[in-house]
Amino acid sequence: TPPIQPFSISFGADNATLEPQGQVLTRRMSDLEGLFADGDAWARAVADGDPVVYTVVSSPVPEVPRELPQSITTIYPGETGGEFWMTKGHQHPDPQGEIYLGLDGHGGLLLFDGERAEWLEMRPGTIGYIPPSWAHRSINVGDEPYRFLAVYPGSAGHDYGWVVAHGMGLRARRASAPRTGNGDTTH
Ligand code: F6R
Ligand code: ZN
Repeated sequence: TPPIQPFSISFGADNATLEPQGQVLTRRMSDLEGLFADGDAWARAVADGDPVVYTVVSSPVPEVPRELPQSITTIYPGETGGEFWMTKGHQHPDPQGEIYLGLDGHGGLLLFDGERAEWLEMRPGTIGYIPPSWAHRSINVGDEPYRFLAVYPGSAGHDYGWVVAHGMGLRARRASAPRTGNGDTTH
């Protein structure tokens, strides 16, 4: 792939689109199998319309070594089994840092290194830093769409199986929701 030439990107009026724009990924509830603690509630949500949980709009910069791709994630507000809607979460197989910038709404950036979980509150204007080797998941803890920009090395890669196998150390639930197990964080 030849290197990308210098260019700039504009946000759309709602911050959810980019111009120019690359691929758009849509994650529905059925794409999140095994991630919510309440599997029955997850299955009911899939049967009941299989809602879109989040979208990821990418810049035209490809995920190849030395390039620096960007994307905007929009997580819609919702709860399944009392757990806030969230991204799948992943680790970068080639451990490299990543930067998130909050754009709209209220979210959390959950980080897990296999032993320790950290929670960063994300608001518009918050820069969240993901150190190399920390798995990361984003969660909408508000009532509006939560939106953020991600900037990451094109060679980092994405490992989703690690999170399925190890979890993320914490789960995010509304304070009034029934609690199960230990290590929950509430909002
Ligand atoms: C890229 C990155 C984000 C996420 C996006 C969707 O390294 O961290 O762009 O890819 O927020 O989350 P996942 O990839 O976990 O489905
Ligand atoms: Zn990442």
